[in-house]
Amino acid sequence: QHILVLHGPNLNLLGTREPEVYGRRTLNDINQRLQQLATESGARCTAFQSNHEGELVDRIQAASRDHIDFILINAAAYTHTSVALRDALAGVSIPFIEVHLSNVHKREPFRHHSFLTDKAVGVVAGLGSFGYEAALLYALAN
Ligand code: DQA
Repeated sequence: QHILVLHGPNLNLLGTREPEVYGRRTLNDINQRLQQLATESGARCTAFQSNHEGELVDRIQAASRDHIDFILINAAAYTHTSVALRDALAGVSIPFIEVHLSNVHKREPFRHHSFLTDKAVGVVAGLGSFGYEAALLYALAN
């Protein structure tokens, strides 16, 4: 089983970016933990972060070719803006879970809408970095 974890814009700054909202763990900490969990289950986990919408689209398209079984995606701000990411995910028809560190529903109204949710297997929001781990365990079990 091969799981792809996609991180959108500004998530490279985790650890120092608004730590009261997003926590103190760095992206590298999160990716390493996911890698460890996947390896323990005999699976593979590949992580990719980009600040560029088109690069994320390219990576989703490549996921088919790479035989990715499941995608975990925190599209960050693109969650609320990107028809292109939605179309890419629908286009490859690989099951995915939408992850947010913060509880987007108790924040500004513009964060309440997601272009991805109705295509997702599920959504995890507000559990911090644990949300990625929960999503990964689900993916590994399914
Ligand atoms: C986020 C929530 C988004 O609204 C925001 O733009 C982010 C991160 C989260 O993980 O809580 O960059 O996806």
